[in-house]
Amino acid sequence: MDVDHVRIFDTTLRDGEQAPGCTMTLEEKLEVARQLARMRVDIIEAGFPAASPGDWAAVHEIAREVGTPDGPTIAALARANKDDIDKAWTAIQPAAHKRIHTFMSTSDIHLEHQFRKSRGEALELIGEMVSYARSLCDDVEFSPMDATRSDPEYLFQALKIAVECGATTLNIPDTVGYSTPQEYGDLIAAIRQNVPGADKVIISTHCHDDLGVAVANSLAGVYAGARQIECTINGIGERAGNASLEEVVMALHTREQFYGLKTQVVTRELARASRTVSSFIGVPVPPNKAIVGANTFAHESGIHQDGVLKNRMTYEIMSAETVGLDGNALILGKHSGRHAFRKHVEAMGYDLNDEDFQHVFARFKDLCDRKKRVDDRDIEALISGEIQHT
Ligand code: KIV
Ligand code: ZN
Repeated sequence: MDVDHVRIFDTTLRDGEQAPGCTMTLEEKLEVARQLARMRVDIIEAGFPAASPGDWAAVHEIAREVGTPDGPTIAALARANKDDIDKAWTAIQPAAHKRIHTFMSTSDIHLEHQFRKSRGEALELIGEMVSYARSLCDDVEFSPMDATRSDPEYLFQALKIAVECGATTLNIPDTVGYSTPQEYGDLIAAIRQNVPGADKVIISTHCHDDLGVAVANSLAGVYAGARQIECTINGIGERAGNASLEEVVMALHTREQFYGLKTQVVTRELARASRTVSSFIGVPVPPNKAIVGANTFAHESGIHQDGVLKNRMTYEIMSAETVGLDGNALILGKHSGRHAFRKHVEAMGYDLNDEDFQHVFARFKDLCDRKKRVDDRDIEALISGEIQHT
C-alpha cells in the first residue's frame, strides 16, 4: 500500500487562542511555536495579524525565529479584504516558507445575517481576494467559512473560483461543529469530484468539536482524500474546541496500516506540547483525555493489571513512551489484584513470605474501601504493622 503524507496544520496560536481564557503572551506563543517546530508540524498558523498590533508582533516574531528554511511554513489568517491580507503578509515576511490563509463565509445564514452580502457579491470578493493574496504569496489557503452548512452547489462554485484565482489549499471548515463523520467524509469526496482543479490542490479539514466528533470528522475527511488536518494542542479552540492534534496524529500513527497514511510529527514530543499549552493557559488536561491524560496509560482493575504485567498489548494499543510519557502505571486500589500488589511490594524492596503477604493484601483491600488513594507510605505502614505483629 502506498503511504501518503498528511500535513498537520496547527492552529493552537490562532483558533486555539480564540477560546475564552486561552490567551497567551508573546513569549508563551514563541515557546509553543518552538515546541511545534520541534514536533515537526508542517504548518503553524501563528495568529491573526489584523486582530491587534500584539497579534501582528507575535506572528512576526514567530516567523523570524521559527520560520527557518528547514522549519515549518508560517501561516497568518486574514479576512477577505486587502488590509487584513497586507497585515498577514507583512507579519509573515521573515519566514522562509510563508502562507496567507484567507476566508469568507459561504452559508446563507452567514451571508445574510453577518456579512449582509448576496451570494454573487461573496463570489466576486472571493475571486478578488484570493487573486490579491496570490499576487503576494505563492502559498495561499482559502476557507469557505461555515462550509458544512452551505448549499453544496454554491460551495463548489466558490471553491472553483478560489482554485482558478490561485488558491493552493482548500480548507473546509465545519465552523460550528455541526457535521457528522459520514456526512463530512461525503462532503470532502463530493468536493474532489465536483470542483474542477481540486485534484491539483490540497484539501484540508478544519473541524470543531460541538458534537464531540471533531477528530472523527477529520479522520473521515482524510479517508475521503483530504491531505491536511487543521487541529490544536489539547483540542483547545472556540466553544468546545477544535480537533485535537495529539488525537489525530496518534490515530493515524496507530492505525497506519488501515489508513495507509503518515504524518511527519515526532510523536514523543506530544506530551510535552500538551503540558506546555496547559500550563500557559492555566487549563488542566482532564485525566481521561485521550493520548495525554493522566489516566491514559494507567491500569487499576485486577484483570487489566494481570494482563498488562504479562504483555502490555493486552490492554494498550500504543505505548506511553511513543507519546513522550515515562511509562504506564499500575494504580493500586480496590480493583487491584494480588499479582500487581505483589510486584509493587517487591519493587518497594520487601520480600514477604506467603503468609505475611496474604495478611498485608487483605489489610490493603480493607484500607482501599476506606481511603480513595492508597500510596506507598500506607503500604509501608501496613507491612511494618504486619512484621511487628508476627
Ligand atoms: O472555524 C472556522 O471556520 C475558522 C476559519 C476562519 C477557518 O476558524
Ligand atoms: Zn475554526
